[in-house]
Amino acid sequence: LFFYIPSFFSQKYPPVKFLSEKDRKRILITGGAGFVGSHLTDKLMMDGHEVTVVDNFFTGRKRNVEHWIGHENFELINHDVVEPLYIEVDQIYHLASPASPPNYMYNPIKTLKTNTIGTLNMLGLAKRVGARLLLASTSEVYGDPEVHPQNEEYWGHVNPIGPRACYDEGKRVAETMCYAYMKQEGVEVRVARIFNTFGSRMHMNDGRVVSNFILQALQGEPLTVYGTGSQTRAFQYVSDLVNGLVLLMNSNISSPVNLGNPEEHTILEFARLIKSLVVSQSQIQFLSEAQDDPQRRRPDIRKARMMLGWEPVVPLEEGLNKTIQYFSRELEHQANNQYIPKPKAARMKKGRPRHN
Ligand SMILES: NC(=O)c1ccc[n+]([C@@H]2O[C@H](COP(=O)([O-])OP(=O)(O)OC[C@H]3O[C@@H](n4cnc5c(N)ncnc54)[C@H](O)[C@@H]3O)[C@@H](O)[C@H]2O)c1
Repeated sequence: LFFYIPSFFSQKYPPVKFLSEKDRKRILITGGAGFVGSHLTDKLMMDGHEVTVVDNFFTGRKRNVEHWIGHENFELINHDVVEPLYIEVDQIYHLASPASPPNYMYNPIKTLKTNTIGTLNMLGLAKRVGARLLLASTSEVYGDPEVHPQNEEYWGHVNPIGPRACYDEGKRVAETMCYAYMKQEGVEVRVARIFNTFGSRMHMNDGRVVSNFILQALQGEPLTVYGTGSQTRAFQYVSDLVNGLVLLMNSNISSPVNLGNPEEHTILEFARLIKSLVVSQSQIQFLSEAQDDPQRRRPDIRKARMMLGWEPVVPLEEGLNKTIQYFSRELEHQANNQYIPKPKAARMKKGRPRHN
């Protein structure tokens, strides 16, 4: 029998390079349906590798990687890294972990389990199959730093029992585990200490400066600045981070490397720039200073520059424009897909009333 499948049934994928068997790697990305992980998936797929995404969809979404579903080089597994995983891979990018304060504080015990048991499971897998593992660590390992900017030699200033400890200490012990597996078992590890990152597919409602301002500007609401707005922040665009992660994975640097953008801007500068890029009529509204709002956060990226030849290249305005476009499409998508529940007719129970 001959079946004709019209072309509109066959899915179109973004173009991927062809790699020979020798150069093509089998790559696992845990947390690959999240913000950073999905961009990393795009890069590695387009570079021609075989990518397996493992995600429990706590903060990630199928929508972030749906454009690859069905591709012969791609696999999506709904799995929690707290449970062991047995697959054959050459490289593991271990990103699974909630990343923003509201998400990681939502269930601190689960955050701890993901970063500890989850990391042990992935290191166990790396040991078993001889894979190299890159841990997505964070600038939060430096805690409330007493040194500016922070370089990789700084040990940090973390409160082990504070509200952020489940994440900060979780990532710190995850780093410790990497080096224990390296020393004791010879597992090849890479540790990226990631600083603030923004871009499309970032979470819209987790209270970060960039997402807050973009949403407020797009919706014509006032842009809320806490204090005078003279506090500074530094953000890297997600494609810069992804390039850094891939360079680090394929380098021979096993010690931790900072990946971030050292270019600082005041909060007020961000507010004004976003307002003008959105061409928004929103006002800037000053509110009283937030508690524990750090005055400065800035990475020292000399090591990445020197040893990886890496530095951020995407100009802030360009990154913001792409993110603004994404947010406005998302707002449209939400407006068109609002689920409005229909009122249910009251149901009469038959028989005797039951105690549930
Ligand atoms: N975005 C940043 O600015 C930033 C800064 C520093 C570090 N990082 C690190 O980078 C990584 C990715 O962050 P992101 O911003 O993409 O966050 P994200 O929340 O978008 O992605 C995390 C992904 O991990 C998944 N996940 C969480 N717990 C899991 C579990 N137990 N099992 C399987 N999957 C699980 C989530 O569903 C999500 O898809 C995280 O490890 C984070 O700590 C991010």
